[in-house]
Amino acid sequence: MKMYKVGGAVRDQLLGLPVTDVDWVVVGATAQDMLDLGYRPVGADFPVFIHPPTGEEYALARTERKSGRGYGGFVFHASPEVTLEEDLLRRDLTINAMAEDDDGHLIDPYGGRADLNGRWLRHVAPAFAEDPLRVLRVARFAARYAPLGFRIAPQTLELMHTLSASGELQALTPERSWKEISRALMEPTPRVFFEVLTACGALGVLFPELETLGDSNLNSLQLAAQAEQPLTVRWASLLLGLGEPAVLALSQRFKVPRECQELAQLSDRYAGQACRGVALGPQPLLDMLQAFDVYRRPQRFEEFVQVCALALRAQGQQPDPLATQLHDLAAAVRGVAVKPLIEAGFSGPALGEALKQARLHAVADYCRGAA
Ligand code: CTP
Repeated sequence: MKMYKVGGAVRDQLLGLPVTDVDWVVVGATAQDMLDLGYRPVGADFPVFIHPPTGEEYALARTERKSGRGYGGFVFHASPEVTLEEDLLRRDLTINAMAEDDDGHLIDPYGGRADLNGRWLRHVAPAFAEDPLRVLRVARFAARYAPLGFRIAPQTLELMHTLSASGELQALTPERSWKEISRALMEPTPRVFFEVLTACGALGVLFPELETLGDSNLNSLQLAAQAEQPLTVRWASLLLGLGEPAVLALSQRFKVPRECQELAQLSDRYAGQACRGVALGPQPLLDMLQAFDVYRRPQRFEEFVQVCALALRAQGQQPDPLATQLHDLAAAVRGVAVKPLIEAGFSGPALGEALKQARLHAVADYCRGAA
């Protein structure tokens, strides 16, 4: 039995980047051999094991064959006879298809090192096209490595084009798609992800709602990445101005986490009003703050302020005065205390009404001061 470090760990080590996840491939072993050595199986049918002390993944060398539509439609063949080269051949990109042995020697049958040096994202073999998820993966790797000068090999882009036109992308599960999309949004140049999807014809299949978007959304998204904003802010920045039905349709299509959907919906509904700042007037401002539930969800409103500020910056405007106003308004309504109202004898629905009035006064006072 021999064990090799493979995939992302080898790639990132050669690029001089930090390595977080280490994956291993095991050649010449059976599942029973792994169990006998104390490795823990990951799934019932999948020849992957966890090494309990390190938590690292060890997969038996395997070949794969497509057996149906979409992700999951694969037949694996893992046996002690499968060679390292056969296992590497089933992988997506040449830069992901390298291995390193115990002595630190590189095993690179498909030119991964040359492509790393030449800054190419290139498929290993025509079997690339058997897995539609790879369209999203390659676009994600482009979003990660574009700052280092990486681009997609023309033949690989052609295969991605063919896959996009084949109807296979629709067979991806929402969970698998969102995992790639959310990771792509968190990369250093997320706008490249959407540019690649456009270039290979996948945008219209996966995100038809985004086809009409102007460049300013991608600019906002890119600024959000530069400011290291969280996923919620990046997703909302991308979708700003699409209209609520489209935001909802996209969020449901990919089963996005609730906090992402909520911020995108609320941002779409209120950003136009919020951008008027105190000029909007006390009552609509208070309604907006209530809709965000600034009392119990202060963070969500802060994120909304970021979305508005990024949108303004993307249009070449100075966002700071507006951001300050919105922060101050939230602080003003949060600063209204209930206790004095209770002490003044208010209770039940009358207390609710008095609180609303006090908050409205706080907003009006702030607006007068800022005008
Ligand atoms: N792989 C593949 N096709 C897929 C998924 C994975 O060929 N659809 C292969 C690639 O060789 C990849 C390895 O499995 O390097 C491990 O996959 P994963 O952990 O998802 O990616 P990494 O390459 O480790 O990249 P990341 O840094 O994004 O985790």
